[in-house]
Amino acid sequence: MSAPNSDYDPVQVTPLDADQVAAMVSDALAAFAAARDLDALKEARLAHTGDRSPLALANREIGALPPQARKEAGQRVGTARRDVATALAERQAVLEAERDERVLVEEAVDVTLPWDRAPRGARHPLTTIQERVADVFVAMGWEVAEGPEVEAEWLNFDALNIGPDHPARTMQDTFFVESEDSGLVLRTHTSPVQARSMLSRTPPIYVICPGRTFRTDELDATHTPVFSQVEGLAIDEGLTMAHLKGTLDHFASSMFGDGITTRLRPSYFPFTEPSAEMDLQCFVCRGASVGDPDHPCRTCGSEGWIEWGGCGMVNPRVLVACGIDPERYTGFAFGMGLERTLMFRHGVEDMHDMVEGDVRFAAAFGMEI
Ligand code: DAH
Repeated sequence: MSAPNSDYDPVQVTPLDADQVAAMVSDALAAFAAARDLDALKEARLAHTGDRSPLALANREIGALPPQARKEAGQRVGTARRDVATALAERQAVLEAERDERVLVEEAVDVTLPWDRAPRGARHPLTTIQERVADVFVAMGWEVAEGPEVEAEWLNFDALNIGPDHPARTMQDTFFVESEDSGLVLRTHTSPVQARSMLSRTPPIYVICPGRTFRTDELDATHTPVFSQVEGLAIDEGLTMAHLKGTLDHFASSMFGDGITTRLRPSYFPFTEPSAEMDLQCFVCRGASVGDPDHPCRTCGSEGWIEWGGCGMVNPRVLVACGIDPERYTGFAFGMGLERTLMFRHGVEDMHDMVEGDVRFAAAFGMEI
């Protein structure tokens, strides 16, 4: 058994000698100074002040020293640990201040911004023009009629004298529901509402029907697979082409202003006989561009006229199919494209604007058009 080492000099105990402890302190201070953010400082803190850090291990050694050596070693390590703790707290304060400053900038809230203004949206001009058209006719005592967008093929075609072999029935134009034999289509025009109105009412019948229609067209500047029409139907005793012309002239001047010139041009529709196309005199060139190559008109293509829609006297075969006595009653009907109407009326040049749903387009029309 060896005797206690009474000549023990604590300065000679390696882990606790002054240079070693000073090196631990300067390592710690260098690591704190090098930490660029609080995460890095946390790592440095664990490495230099944690349970397994050199200073903590040194502190544990003290208890194993002979009593006469403990005091000095204890003071040295204690001072070192305080210095390290102070440096850590200072660096922590600096980095926290930096972080707070950054967060204040990054998360700045502009309290002067309005908080109570929800964008309102705007009614689409196609909706408002439908209401306006309805108003024009309601003012003359007509009734607004409606029909479904998924329509019976019979009402969309057969009742309107469009036979099974008519080209409009092929897959090229018509969206069939489920299959071609389902008997259901997305209505290709608003004309089935004519048939519905005749089947559900007794003459005199005066109905107007604005609504959505569907055809398998690609979307481009002048076509859209979902478009809108307005259908008109009048059935009464003694109605003639003159009543049709007078009604459409009134409709045209309500839409485009007094003084608009119209013309009826012979045409063909299976459900009217005779049939016509209703043209509007070009309201940009007023016909002046016709035969004047120096002043072409983009609006009418220098034709002088713009096609607005189809019309005619209701074909007696349609009257019979819909239960109306053609010996007693006659009728007229018309169908106009509402996108076209909007294009003429407001100079909308591209169909995309009408279907894309950008609120800025709709908002430009305001509430009333
Ligand atoms: N339904 C026709 C179409 O979509 C438009 C039309 C023409 C409707 C003549 C009518 C009419 O009521 O009489 O092209």
